[in-house]
Formats: sequence, structure tokens, C-alpha cells
Amino acid sequence: MAKLTWHGHATCSLETDDGTHLVIDPFFGENPACEVSVEDVPADFILISHGHKDHIGDAIPLAERTGATIIATFEVATYMETQGMTVSAHHIGGGVRYPFGYVKLTPALHGGIIELPGGERYTSLPAGFLINLESGQRFHHAGDTGLISHMELLKGRVDVAMLPIGDRYTMGPEDAVRAVEMIEPKVVIPMHYNTWPPIAQDPEAFKKAVGKRAEVVILAPGGTYDF
Ligand code: NI
Ligand code: MN
Repeated sequence: MAKLTWHGHATCSLETDDGTHLVIDPFFGENPACEVSVEDVPADFILISHGHKDHIGDAIPLAERTGATIIATFEVATYMETQGMTVSAHHIGGGVRYPFGYVKLTPALHGGIIELPGGERYTSLPAGFLINLESGQRFHHAGDTGLISHMELLKGRVDVAMLPIGDRYTMGPEDAVRAVEMIEPKVVIPMHYNTWPPIAQDPEAFKKAVGKRAEVVILAPGGTYDF
């Protein structure tokens, strides 16, 4: 059984069957939706979808405290290496087998500047993650993205998908329903909404719009889902 904890926005922790702690898009301190401090989160691996502050903001303090390995695109990983972090660089479409499972970076349509000091030189393509755990579960975190036809390539390959629904900076609810139609996950967990007023959305309305296409699990920040 893997345990997913959503910390609000795009930030989540995934504890795998073997007790490995993955943290995706660490953004704790300045995340108004977040219920925990970066000081209290365990991490063995930190996955960063792109360099915007609301996804990378607490990666360095988290990696410094835990010694976790950072998994990201080559450019984000190279920047993190200049900051003294341990990294594992991938690029879009490329996967790596780790002790806990196989991680592949998926395409995302979005911006990619690294919003940390000196990060401008390391602008990268944004990404999502497909994580095939050794224990068999298949998890997808889409990152920040608009609706893209590439999502069709994930059809039938995802059990649990985290999709942004906030609109304005990512897909809104209507396009997220179309993403569900393309990916056909068993379970969808909405993210990247209600953090701030410009991305206010009603997750219950999204759940209704998805209907029978998938089970929509709405988490409150700090909420968990076992799969
Ligand atoms: Ni972004
Ligand atoms: Mn974002």
C-alpha cells in the first residue's frame, strides 16, 4: 500500500510500500494551503516538475536537511548541483529505475524559468511524472500543464492521477475532464486550485463533471489517500 499525502497546491508526499518517502514539488513555507513545515517532512527523493517558485521553493532546505536526491530535468538538476545538492537528471520521455520504482518525466505545456537566485540561466522544459512503483501501483503527477494531446499516450497506464484544475496558469476544470477522458485513470485527485483567489475552483463541481469516467478523490490539505 502506498500512502499519498496532499499538502495543498501541487505539493505532495508519497510513501511507498517499502517505506521510501518521495516529495513532489516542495512548497511549504509560502504555501497558504499547506498544513506542515518543511522541517517536519521526511524525504528520500524530491521530484521537481519545473522551476516556478510554487514548485521548487522549499527544495533546497528539504534536500539539505534530509540528504534526499533531487529528480528533475537536466537543467533543474544542473542548477541544484550548483547549490550542492545530490541529483538525478532525466529529460522528458526518459525514465530511470530507482529502488522504489521506475520514474519517467512526462511532457507539460507551461513555463520553465527557475525562480531561485541565479536560476535564470537554467530555464528548462516543465514536466510531469509517471511513477511505476515496484509494488505495482502506477501514479501520475501532471505538474503544471495545459491540456495537451500527449496525454493520450498515458491512456490505460495510470491508476491514480493528480491533475491541476485551477485554470489561469494550468488546465481548468473543463480541460481537466478532457484530460481524464484521454488518460483514463481509475482515480483522479485535483490539485493546483484554491491556493490563492486567482485559481479558485469548486472541486465538487469538477467531480460532478468527471462523472463516471473516474473516481474523483477530493483531499483537504493534509489529507491522505492509500492505494
Ligand atoms: Ni508553474
Ligand atoms: Mn504552479
